[in-house]
Amino acid sequence: MAVQIDKGTSARSRTRVRKNTLNDLSGRQWIKRTKSWLVCDSRRYHRNRDTELHPARYPEELVIEFVEFFTKADQWVLDPFAGTAATLVGAHETGRRSVGIELSANYAEMSRLRLREIGAADAHVLVGDAREVASERFWARELGTRAGCPSLGPEGLPQFDFLMTSPPYWNMLRKSRGGVESTHKQRAAGGLDTVYSDDHSDLGNLPDYDEFIEALGAIFDNCYRVLRDRAYMVVVVQNVRVPEGEVRPLAWDLQRRISRTFSFQGERIWCQDSKKLGIWGYPTVFVPNYHHHYCLIFRKRQG
Ligand SMILES: C[S@@+](CC[C@H](N)C(=O)[O-])C[C@H]1O[C@@H](n2cnc3c(N)ncnc32)[C@H](O)[C@@H]1O
Repeated sequence: MAVQIDKGTSARSRTRVRKNTLNDLSGRQWIKRTKSWLVCDSRRYHRNRDTELHPARYPEELVIEFVEFFTKADQWVLDPFAGTAATLVGAHETGRRSVGIELSANYAEMSRLRLREIGAADAHVLVGDAREVASERFWARELGTRAGCPSLGPEGLPQFDFLMTSPPYWNMLRKSRGGVESTHKQRAAGGLDTVYSDDHSDLGNLPDYDEFIEALGAIFDNCYRVLRDRAYMVVVVQNVRVPEGEVRPLAWDLQRRISRTFSFQGERIWCQDSKKLGIWGYPTVFVPNYHHHYCLIFRKRQG
């Protein structure tokens, strides 16, 4: 797509055409996706069985919003905390190719089933630890020279065009924050997963907040090495209120930590407008109903 830039006075001489090097959107579509908030609560998301089975998914529509902005068709997308593959499904639906890393073999298997059902041969789910994302051995073992996978660069690492992910929100799933009506308690009563796993490599099991931020930050430092120069990365997170009654600004702390390596480009706020309100603090204290998440946008610097 070419955008006409009219620089003013003598129109013919000063008009130049700039090529869109980032995505396949028209100018009109582009501008809509620069608004700093969006509501995203699709029907498909609420009806999807995986949304019920996995305790913390995001909608494919959220992925599509960003993947279409930060990539062109056929480019490669990585999600190092893939869950049940919303990123991979969104990437496939928009003609992008993708790889997801997920610690839980159970969620990985659910993802593979779903991807098979929709014929997404261009999406690959790897069972593994995101800590290994910059390990040559990991990629050689998992991808090697398999056809249809991203090729490995000179360092033995693939080079992705975009990364979109949502890591565990610290140990949020381990703590019920509400009364009998809390999602946590309802899920437990229904026999559904309330946590991802008991695996010690699951970042959601780290009890210490600072340690968690550092561990996650180190993973994103490593992700830097598997992204091509100037590639973008979107990390979806939320601030977290601990049951003891204080809010840990996880989104802001993580933004600061990741900015040691990446260049921070801004945020878009994903609003959930159809979530049930909980009457948590009434009638004595203010307790927010967190119905928004931060989509933190970073960019790799030039090498
Ligand atoms: C917030 S969920 C991601 C959900 C995903 N965006 C979706 O929509 O399905 C975080 C995921 O990270 C996984 N996880 C936790 N620690 C991990 C690790 N060290 N390596 C890879 N995955 C991990 C959890 O099992 C969980 O599925």
